[in-house]
Parts: sequence; C-alpha cells; structure tokens
Amino acid sequence: MRIGILTGGGDCPGLNAVIRAVVRLSTDRGHEMIGVRDGWKGLTEGVFAPLGRREVSGILPRGGTILGTTRTNPYKIEGGVEAVLGHFQEQQLDALVAIGGEDTLGVAARLHREHAFPVVGVPKTIDNDLSGTDYTFGFDTAMTIATEAIDRLHTTAESHNRVMVVEVMGRHTGWIAVMSGIAGGADVILIPEQPITVERACQDLVKRHEGGKDFSIVVVSEGYELAYESGERRLVADDARATDQFGHLVLGGVGDALAREIEQRTGFETRVSVLGHVQRGGTPTPRDRILATRFGLKAADLVNEGRYGRMAALHGDAIVDVSLEEATGEVKTVPPEWYEVARAFFG
Ligand code: F6P
Repeated sequence: MRIGILTGGGDCPGLNAVIRAVVRLSTDRGHEMIGVRDGWKGLTEGVFAPLGRREVSGILPRGGTILGTTRTNPYKIEGGVEAVLGHFQEQQLDALVAIGGEDTLGVAARLHREHAFPVVGVPKTIDNDLSGTDYTFGFDTAMTIATEAIDRLHTTAESHNRVMVVEVMGRHTGWIAVMSGIAGGADVILIPEQPITVERACQDLVKRHEGGKDFSIVVVSEGYELAYESGERRLVADDARATDQFGHLVLGGVGDALAREIEQRTGFETRVSVLGHVQRGGTPTPRDRILATRFGLKAADLVNEGRYGRMAALHGDAIVDVSLEEATGEVKTVPPEWYEVARAFFG
C-alpha cells in the first residue's frame, strides 16, 4: 500500500512520535509512506515529501511536526474537496493517516462519510477537548509546562504579596486550567464550563487573605467569559482579527481583564502571566511520547486492516478505536466532578 500521513491544526508535542510509529510499523510491513505537507493544505495543493525510516530517525523527542501544519479547511476553499480527492488519486495513495484535533479530524470524518475516503485518525491537541478518547497526546506536556509555571509564580507572588493571574490555553474548555491548577495548588481557577463570577473569585481571594495568606495564584482559561452577578458575560478575544477557516476566534486577553477587576475590587496588587504558545512548544513528556507512539501503532494497524473512518483512542489504559464521527461530534468538556476537586482548595 501507499499510505499518506498529515498533521493538521495547531502543532503539539508528540506529533513526531506518532509519525515515527506509523512509518516504522507500516514500512516494516512492506508499505510505502508519503508525507503530506502542512495538513489539508498539502492535499489541496498537491505538496508531498518523502517519508521513510531515514526521515523519522531521531524525531521521537522533538516537538512540533516535521511535516508542517496549517489550519486549512478544504471545505472552505472553492474546489478544495475535489482537489484533495484528485491529488490523493494522482499520488496513487491507498490510505491516509490524519493526525489532528476536532477540525482536522472533522474534515476526515466528512470526507469518509461523503466520499468513502480511506482515512484513519489520531487524536492530538493540548486542549484535550476531543470526544471518544480519555486523553489526547500533547495535553500532558501542556499541563506539565503550566504546572511548572504556576510553581515558579508561587515564589515570586509570595515574595511580593501579590495576586498572580496565570492565563492558560484550552480554547473553550478548561482542561489545562483545572489540571495544572490542581497540580500547582491554585487558589482560584476560572474555566468556561463552570463560570464562577468575578465577584465570587474576589470573595475567595479576600477570604484567603483574611486567613493570613497575603499572596494568591489565580488560573484562568483563555475561553472563560468574565461572568458577573448581574448576569452579564464577556468573552475576551481579538475581534480585530479574522476567524480561521474553521470559524475560531483568536482568544487571549482574559487574564489581563481579570487582573484589573481583581485589583480594583480587592485592592491587592495583581500581575498577569500569559503562557501562550510556550505550552505547545518543545519536547513532549515521556507520557505523551508513549501515548503518541501507541496511537501511531494503532493507526498503522487500522490502515493495515482496512478499518477506515476510525480513530485511535485511549480508554482507561487501553488503546482502542472509535468512529471519527463519534470523536468529532461534540467537544469534550471538563466534567463537574473534576472542577469540584479544584474547588475544594479555593480561597
Ligand atoms: O487548539 C490548540 C490551541 O493552542 C488553543 O489552545 C489556542 O486557542 C489555539 O490553539 C491558538 O491557535 P494559534 O496557534 O492559531 O494561535
């Protein structure tokens, strides 16, 4: 078989580990691998790269993706889908492994549904918001980076008696915020799924200070909408910038807005740290390398068995497969019981 592989959407640590695993197992089985450059853009425009044992040598611990990535959506480009199908045929490809989040895999699911396109998926994203799998690879690394940042901010917050607001990524879910906040001992965590009000967050900080602690750590997820007792809600996003081809706003800035509110309402000196793309860069944690490797082997098996329209997934400690439709049907949000774990330590 000739098997193509692409990485789409935001990059994340572990992409190269998946590529390596798919290439190693598939070439051992006598299949030929072809790299598709820059996500769906490569199939839309016909840009490919050789991909064999040599190309994947030494990439296991490397962050980013050797194939490049974009947020291209062929369904938003005139003639895009026909171009994808045409280039796939021209290259005499038999199957495609798509590594991505809800957007990239949403395109894969639709191509499979509408054109019986022979594709299998691998779930990636630092946001951990993909359904059908307990965890996506990349999340553990982002959570680890955010936790380390919270630890570091603790010592400077304590020295200056300040409130430190840490803004983390996660789009419209609070996985990174809740998990790194629990691990780092945050005093208040604000996430989109359980939007406690600004007033409530300030009350928790005041209570903590009254109890003798004169510094605090607040973790806020970029997608948290500032919520007020009046019922008003305010999403902070860069309105001046266009949404991408999947309709996503450029989030960011809620940390700053929240810090101002806290300072005004409590009088506590407050600073902000926005972790941004640092959470996506660099080498993956061992857990992410292992998960990505297991997902890659599973994807190679799915292709080998001709089981298209499926996605490798983690259930408990087992690698299983689920349908791409199920995985991309809805966003996986943080369940209330996880937020309760975090909440037990507020204030
Ligand atoms: O989906 C991953 C993610 O890092 C989100 O957490 C974040 O909102 C977004 O991508 C940022 O995208 P970009 O890399 O286009 O700035």
